[in-house]
Amino acid sequence: MSFAFIDLASQQNRIRENIDQKIAAVLNHGQYIMGPEVSELETALSKRVATNHVISCGSGTDALLLALMGLKLKPRQGVIVPSFTFTASAEVMPLLGAIPIFAEVDEETFTMDPARLADALESAIDANIEVVGIMAVGLFGQPAQMDKINAFAKSNGLWVLDDAAQSFGTEYQGSKTGALAEVTCTSFFPAKPLGCYGDGGALFTQDDEIAEIARSCRVHGQGIHKYHTERLGMTARLDTMQAAILLAKLDIFDEELKLREKVAKNYHNLLSDWIKTPVCNQGSTSSWAIYTLTLPKSVDRQHMQEKLNIKGVPTAIYYPIPMHLQKPYSHFPRAKYGLEVSERLAQSVLSIPMHPYLTSQEQETISSAIIQIIKDGNNN
Ligand SMILES: Cc1ncc(COP(=O)(O)O)c(C=O)c1O
Repeated sequence: MSFAFIDLASQQNRIRENIDQKIAAVLNHGQYIMGPEVSELETALSKRVATNHVISCGSGTDALLLALMGLKLKPRQGVIVPSFTFTASAEVMPLLGAIPIFAEVDEETFTMDPARLADALESAIDANIEVVGIMAVGLFGQPAQMDKINAFAKSNGLWVLDDAAQSFGTEYQGSKTGALAEVTCTSFFPAKPLGCYGDGGALFTQDDEIAEIARSCRVHGQGIHKYHTERLGMTARLDTMQAAILLAKLDIFDEELKLREKVAKNYHNLLSDWIKTPVCNQGSTSSWAIYTLTLPKSVDRQHMQEKLNIKGVPTAIYYPIPMHLQKPYSHFPRAKYGLEVSERLAQSVLSIPMHPYLTSQEQETISSAIIQIIKDGNNN
């Protein structure tokens, strides 16, 4: 028996007819760039989240870059970002000449630890860096503690950007992700809970100026017409074809989020007596983009992966090296009292199959395999 880590095929079987029809419509009208499906998708997303502006774009990374351009981030300014995240969260600051300041995450929920933001700010001040904002990350599917992060930002005159590449579709204390910060960015990478069949992303904001700059930068810094250039920009549009596919997927997104929640609960029931299963921040829902266990010291991760692999259970390590220990980032400032939690998590996390179509029988087989390996110890 072998299992899919993420099962896009079952999803496609459900909606193939709709996808085929939507792709055929694009082929028929031929507006491959900024066709009607792009604005249809932006309108649907903006209604869903209740934000004034939704700007679709070429990827989650493009969305982060456009957001920072919209926030007018300048070279040598600093942005606080968790070290335990995917590269793209930290990559976009130095691409604009700015400085990521690495902050600590909370061991229980993997998201930015609001109590450790002050340490990161202090390190930046010591290094003479003008900190202007915070990038929170909705890691593995759940938003960070946005109320506390926003409060810290407010009292220090900082803006907040929510990197919701993994957490789109969730809510935090009754508000939808997309409306938890000045700007929110998401990714439509195929493996994401709402993914297309290529690269894609979107930015959400209530702020007219941020939206205007991001829209302009999405098309080479375009001004009042196509050949009038107002500012530096890039090519960062979402393809019409991808927007069409996303419209088909959006129809079943809420149902899939419920199925993901059911799968997560079932894993928790099956595994939590044996191993640390993921925990949500208070008042937060999760899209369960990735289901991540934390192994105790007594369990050898490589051994666990090898044994599971033999049983047809794919696993992944998100993320084996925190950003502050990666070569291109190791010279940037990090929170004053160290990033031990990020380093420890990088050594002990293990992600297992998670998607809406995982059956309870499959979950039982996967969980029994994990429990058996724990019982057998590291030498069997
Ligand atoms: C936390 C996080 N931020 C940003 C991105 C970048 O998204 P994309 O791959 O669409 O550029 C990802 C994608 O994996 C991500 O997980």
